[in-house]
Amino acid sequence: MKRKIIPGQISTKDLHQYIIASVAPRPIAFVSTLDENGIENLAPYSFFNAFSSNPPIVVFSSNRRVTDNSTKDTLHNVRVSGECVVNVVPYSIVRQMSLASVEFPSSVSEFAKTGLTPEPSETVSAPRVMESPVNMECKVKEIIPLGEKGGAGHLIICEVKLIAISESVLNGDRLDPHKLDLMGRMGRNYYVRASGEAVMEIYQSVTEIPLGFDGLPKHILESNILTGNDIASLASLKNLPDEQEITECLKYHPEFIPLDAVQKQRKAIDLIQEGKSTEALCLLMS
Ligand SMILES: Cc1cc2nc3c(=O)[nH]c(=O)nc-3n(C[C@H](O)[C@H](O)[C@H](O)COP(=O)(O)O)c2cc1C
Repeated sequence: MKRKIIPGQISTKDLHQYIIASVAPRPIAFVSTLDENGIENLAPYSFFNAFSSNPPIVVFSSNRRVTDNSTKDTLHNVRVSGECVVNVVPYSIVRQMSLASVEFPSSVSEFAKTGLTPEPSETVSAPRVMESPVNMECKVKEIIPLGEKGGAGHLIICEVKLIAISESVLNGDRLDPHKLDLMGRMGRNYYVRASGEAVMEIYQSVTEIPLGFDGLPKHILESNILTGNDIASLASLKNLPDEQEITECLKYHPEFIPLDAVQKQRKAIDLIQEGKSTEALCLLMS
């Protein structure tokens, strides 16, 4: 059974919660801007993502408040200045980020309120957040309003002009997710911390054509022990083993021989989890 949600038949507030809890976890753009009087502004925006690498484009959305349809300081500032800095949010500053989301008056700098440090940017006037390990200095290309009523977003399309990266989050030329330790926003007050056991690697070649589910034997597809993820690991392999390969595999793993069908599937799950999908497929086909 699935519950049906029809936009227009529930309040915007409730609809918002269904959307933000489902489109999750979302990256957080911690956006710094300047107003026409040079007052610094800092606010988190999780309606945010990267959409292009060439040109490098990131987009976030500043919404009209549902309560009174008013718009936010960040939107005003990007309109008047045409610039912003998108700073990432690691665990080490997550509570300061949350503090910056409070509706302080426009005349107040969230840098002062959060204790975060403004540092000069190189290509825009808005400051970077020193404590954030990655800062994207951006020129605003376009602002697209998505509606007139409370809850309506404004897509702020930004072209990245410079990325400043702290050496401490790099492994050679690559950003290390464990060192970055980024936070993601979920529904309500939930966040996720993207490091340690929460991070997994899935290798999938996109150029080598794999077997796919429909290339696997029926008895594997109809298993009620193997999960969809287990079967997908087998379906990611390039070929089914031939008889010679199965014989070789059994020679190498004589412990597979006495296993019955259920035991084979359980053992296959262990092998898949150890990254030995080829052996798992041989076992299941023996
Ligand atoms: C993690 C987080 C993500 C948020 N994402 C958004 C968002 O995507 N769009 C939005 O309009 N408000 C979002 N908010 C609320 C704004 O941060 C909040 O309204 C803030 O006061 C706006 O500041 P400003 O007026 O200085 O721009 C978010 C708040 C938090 C804590």
